Amino acid sequence: MEWYVEAGVDILLEDTPIDRFSELPPPPRKKPAQISAHSPAERLAKKAEDIPRPAPIVKAQATMPDGSAVALAKDIAAKANTLEELKQAIAGFDGCNLKRTAKSLVFSDGNPNAKIMLIGEAPGKDEDIQGLPFVGPVGQLLDRQLAAIGLNRETSYITNVIPWRPPGNRTPTPQETEICRPFIERQIELINPDVILLLGGASAKTLLKTNDGIMQLRGKWAEIETEKTKVKAMSTLHPAYLLRQPAHKRLVWQDLLDVKQKLSKSV
Ligand code: URA
Repeated sequence: MEWYVEAGVDILLEDTPIDRFSELPPPPRKKPAQISAHSPAERLAKKAEDIPRPAPIVKAQATMPDGSAVALAKDIAAKANTLEELKQAIAGFDGCNLKRTAKSLVFSDGNPNAKIMLIGEAPGKDEDIQGLPFVGPVGQLLDRQLAAIGLNRETSYITNVIPWRPPGNRTPTPQETEICRPFIERQIELINPDVILLLGGASAKTLLKTNDGIMQLRGKWAEIETEKTKVKAMSTLHPAYLLRQPAHKRLVWQDLLDVKQKLSKSV
């Protein structure tokens, strides 16, 4: 088990193994060329054709095409008038395959009336187990960072772009991100904070709609624009990255001081 976990195989999808190859349609058969009508080879080929083959398995839980999933996500997100309605809408949404492998919907933590909203990429293993964002070692570092500028989970609101843990912590695909975008954008509208802190490149690129890297984006104020609101946003390095590269903490410290100053000016 430990060997599997270390290899990234840390979730169980089904109770019994599935032979995915049996889902493939049988390969087209070639008629043997230039064989006389009565040759043994032709009789053999004819016999093989008569052997019944299992019908291809049609998966009951096939996911929706990405375009319709995005349209549905937009529709249900727009109809949510409160955070609770949005949470329920996401919980009932079946258009994102990440939901099938995640244990929990990781919606948010903290104070919905906070002036600051923090947005990470996607939940990890600890978050999936507890159903709350940033609760593992990465979250503990985030808590210390917040404390350093006089904030905590009662004075901030914390969430992720993607509300379900990608299996094995893999990077969410661009399609999965686009399917989940309406949910995070609606969440921003409903919280309508004074300031957003984008944690890491994935979150910054998605919400600022840019391909620039985090080293270019961090330390600069930008604006997140949704259909109904505009919010000032600072991008910074992800705390998971800082656990691996602690020397970069000084960059994040500069960004946090900037955020603190902006918050002190907001009414
Ligand atoms: N990393 C994230 O981006 N979000 C979490 O909730 C935890 C780790």
